[in-house]
Amino acid sequence: MKTSATVLSFLAIVFFLSASASNLPSLLHPLKVPRLPDISSFEDDLSYSLYQHSCSGVEGIIYRKVKEWVKKDPTLAPSLMRLHFHDCAVRRCDASILLDHKGSEKSANVSKSLRGFEVINDIKAAVEKKCPKTVSCADILTAAARDATVLAGGPFWTIPFGRKDGRVSLAKEAAKVPMGRESITNLIEFFQSKGLNVLDLVVLSGAHTIGRSKCESVQYRLYDYKGTKKPDPSIDPQYLNYLRRKCRWASEDVYLDATTPHKFDTQYYQNLKKKMGLLSTDQLLYGDSRTKPIADAFVFRFFPFLQPIQCLHGEACKYSGLHISR
Ligand code: HEM
Repeated sequence: MKTSATVLSFLAIVFFLSASASNLPSLLHPLKVPRLPDISSFEDDLSYSLYQHSCSGVEGIIYRKVKEWVKKDPTLAPSLMRLHFHDCAVRRCDASILLDHKGSEKSANVSKSLRGFEVINDIKAAVEKKCPKTVSCADILTAAARDATVLAGGPFWTIPFGRKDGRVSLAKEAAKVPMGRESITNLIEFFQSKGLNVLDLVVLSGAHTIGRSKCESVQYRLYDYKGTKKPDPSIDPQYLNYLRRKCRWASEDVYLDATTPHKFDTQYYQNLKKKMGLLSTDQLLYGDSRTKPIADAFVFRFFPFLQPIQCLHGEACKYSGLHISR
């Protein structure tokens, strides 16, 4: 039940981004998720009420800042989501991606197109002003990624707080984060090493419903795939033409979801069915018997996607069919 609720609500992102999947609401009965004061602790020492007294209103500060930045530059919303993924993908969600010294995660090749650092710095400065030395950067990044998701039209979820900032940040560890050329077995193993399963892999890959990639990550699929002198056969011919035109230069940007690039929806999975996955790792999800049935569940809208109807900080957040009180 826990697992199906995760998929149903697409909020499995929470699994990874804020480790609170165990509190996901069921669609079968409109469920009232307990209010913050009702929940005192969470596994791993995370707590929904940690900052209630020590820094009340911190989520409001974060949300307003993210909103301000995303209004100026909407491309920052996907970038913040990805920044959080890359933080959590090395060690744990400990803000180690933000450390800026020689040989840190940030200096790794896989991190070179990460964006949104200035947003986190700006939020941190504002939060420090209100409550010095209280809120970790890891918590700020986690909440900022959630808010970016909401601002992009995606779902809202509650976040337990208490992540500790790490001091170790090594480029060689970041080098293990997938870049788009891995096999499904590699991806499953990587996710497993983080305590995530195949379902999480398929659901979280759905974050590629928005945002962009550098053409560098796909050019190898377009002309001489694996030395065949032919393109990757798993690309739709029309989409291939589009990509060849769009990706003349490695430095060009191309949307991860060619159909609805700015909308946080399940079109990403429809694209995979039409052989329009941008990254090889996206398309492979639809070509492997371990992941295809899960992707298909989204294609056939077996799992309804929840659109937030109203979501204001500090107020009730309503989704179709269920209410989440904060
Ligand atoms: C499953 C393994 C994954 C692989 C191989 C992968 C790979 C990539 C690559 C190559 C890019 C383009 C980077 C660039 O050229 O700038 C990208 C972008 C992105 N990724 Fe992933 N990713 C994975 C999982 C995730 C997860 C779990 C999330 C979040 C939950 C995520 C969120 C994003 C977002 C939002 C973008 C767009 C960033 C932007 O527009 O700035 N990815 N990913």
